[in-house]
Amino acid sequence: MKQVTIARHGDASRLTVREVALPEPGPGQLRITVRAAGVNFADILIRRGLYPGAPKLPCVVGHEVSGVVEAVGEGVDPIWIGRAVLALTDYGGYSECHVLDAHRVLPKPDGLDHEHAAALPLNYVTAWVLLVVMGSLRADQTVLIHNAGGGVGLAAIDVARHLGARTIGTASPGKHPFLLSRGLDHAIDYRQDNWQEEFSEVTRGQGVDLVLDPLGPASWQNSLTLLGPAGRLGMFGISQLAAPGLRGKLHLAAAMLTARRFHPARLIRGNRGIFGCNIHQMYDARTRLNTWLGQILRGVGEGWVRPHVDRVFDFESACDAHTYIEERRNTGKVILSMSARDPL
Ligand SMILES: NC(=O)c1ccc[n+]([C@@H]2O[C@H](COP(=O)([O-])OP(=O)(O)OC[C@H]3O[C@@H](n4cnc5c(N)ncnc54)[C@H](OP(=O)(O)O)[C@@H]3O)[C@@H](O)[C@H]2O)c1
Repeated sequence: MKQVTIARHGDASRLTVREVALPEPGPGQLRITVRAAGVNFADILIRRGLYPGAPKLPCVVGHEVSGVVEAVGEGVDPIWIGRAVLALTDYGGYSECHVLDAHRVLPKPDGLDHEHAAALPLNYVTAWVLLVVMGSLRADQTVLIHNAGGGVGLAAIDVARHLGARTIGTASPGKHPFLLSRGLDHAIDYRQDNWQEEFSEVTRGQGVDLVLDPLGPASWQNSLTLLGPAGRLGMFGISQLAAPGLRGKLHLAAAMLTARRFHPARLIRGNRGIFGCNIHQMYDARTRLNTWLGQILRGVGEGWVRPHVDRVFDFESACDAHTYIEERRNTGKVILSMSARDPL
């Protein structure tokens, strides 16, 4: 079977297809024929050597897949064979087949094709944890969603709307009409120097109850100033530091060294809360992850979870998929499709 592998850090051309032996499921495991794999910004950071805690090279990235169970290991009910499933993966999703523990898979909702199902796990779990589990957002509150046009951003709009909260989102301007059509209440171009004046007008100088910030240390400090009393800041990414090559590594090192610390006295005086979220670091907390994923799958049935697939690339064109995101062209999810392949 084929996998898309990163052997050396660098630009998108580092993604190369290699042939490997078909993995056999061990006890308690099953093997999925992957039909679609989600592409995430984290995959790009790993490729560039900027992702803390990334797997050693050579590695296969990919945090989420949808596919069909084709083999089970000892102790797993063969009834699973032939079932369509989706899963959060411990990397390795850019692969024609994937072996994982049986308790990691959930049935794919019938109403979603594999491409849309692969758009769900990481983005929606991240949004759920940020808004519901840690962010405690309520119906009478307002959330600022940075990077609202990305996969997590669109998922966060869905979850916030489900809660009945008001949403303000930042994104490149070409994405604004689409975001508004998805129900975002107000879109801001955060690449304009004066975007905070618009934010201040929209919030009448009162700030918001929650900011979701995947941009990085400089933005986190700024986001704290956008909170009203009892506001919370959720930090979950470093997109702003994603420069290519050595520049990216220097950016990352400099940003981490010079990052201002959050002083407890400042938080106490300001009545503000901060939290961090990294879903991958919770990979072993499977009961929680499956509970949250279950809530999201229920949302598919109820109609408020609406995964939006922007573009589907052939599995072997992962390089083009990464470039598409790096050029900020995606609105919502980018997917690698293996649907037309015979992995054996
Ligand atoms: N902690 C976690 O568990 C977790 C889980 C999932 C994702 N994340 C993080 O959340 C963020 C979004 O991920 P995603 O997968 O939803 O993104 P995505 O779908 O890949 O979208 C990426 C978007 O980010 C913006 N972008 C691209 N390059 C950028 C740069 N250099 N600086 C700032 N923005 C840039 C662009 O949109 P605009 O220019 O229109 O904004 C781009 O379309 C990433 O930082 C990712 O690492 C964290």
